[in-house]
Amino acid sequence: MSLPSFQAVYYKGVKFDPNHSAVAMEMIESFEVRDDDVFIAAYLKSGTTWTQQIVSLVCADGDISEVCKVPILERTPWLEASDKMGNSEPVPKLLENAPSPRLMKTHLPYYMLPQQAKDGKGKIIHCARNVKDVVVSWHNMRRMFNTIPCGTWEENFKEFITPKEAYNGFWWDVIPEYWRHKDDVNMLFIKFEDMKRDLRGHVVKIANFLGKPLSDQRIDEVVVNCTFSAMKKNPSTNMSRNPAMQRPFFSKAEGSGLEFIRKGEVGDWKNWFSQEENETLEAIHKEKMAGLNLTFQFE
Ligand code: A3P
Repeated sequence: MSLPSFQAVYYKGVKFDPNHSAVAMEMIESFEVRDDDVFIAAYLKSGTTWTQQIVSLVCADGDISEVCKVPILERTPWLEASDKMGNSEPVPKLLENAPSPRLMKTHLPYYMLPQQAKDGKGKIIHCARNVKDVVVSWHNMRRMFNTIPCGTWEENFKEFITPKEAYNGFWWDVIPEYWRHKDDVNMLFIKFEDMKRDLRGHVVKIANFLGKPLSDQRIDEVVVNCTFSAMKKNPSTNMSRNPAMQRPFFSKAEGSGLEFIRKGEVGDWKNWFSQEENETLEAIHKEKMAGLNLTFQFE
């Protein structure tokens, strides 16, 4: 089946994938932030949906198994999403009258977040992931997502490591900038690999950060619904199993076995990187991360 071609969106000189709206991004800077707003901010394919699920369940009142059925983008709307994602108006506009607490997802670099959030209002949770697994996860997402153009593995890899060509900003600009704000009073910086190692500990950490201490039993309920297998089975988090999203967004992947919640592993990059690609990326990583004291687990 041939699909229409979708163009990248440019905002402030940064290339974003076609699911982003420049109009929404422009509105975000002056977005009126409330004290109990929560921004789940992550680079593409770094554990955004996982963090959305944890935050939304930690903040849920009532029956968690019922909340789990609500599509994740309804529980935690995507701030800069374009109308392709089914929004009747730019999401920041739709959120103006939404009840509190508003939980929101964004893939924007730190400097594009609402000014009031950068000034300390509301809360920001940033989830970072080792860059090698991000490249692989992003390539596989592009293979399956109708509205995102996809090249070969080699082309997508090259694009990712090229500052002006990388979607959603150059990883080595975006992540260090969030890291520099890790000690801001309203910021929690977490890592995908640490969540894999200790999911329960991270549910507790996030609950405490949000000022929502939970009973042990409630924490257990959240954890059970945030494991990889639970989120893969759940069409509200595994969007490619959501019948309403399957045809418009994921028909490209039909028969491929690819899913939005795919492998969820640390170290899958080893199945994709050539030795040369590994050396190229490591050289960039070493240079750009020098002196940052930010390390990642790669396997
Ligand atoms: P893989 O493609 O490596 O499997 P995002 O939500 O930012 O787009 O990130 C998607 C990545 O997070 C995918 O990685 C997905 O499988 C993984 N993921 C989502 N939920 C997860 C969970 N509960 N445990 C582990 N990985 C998870």
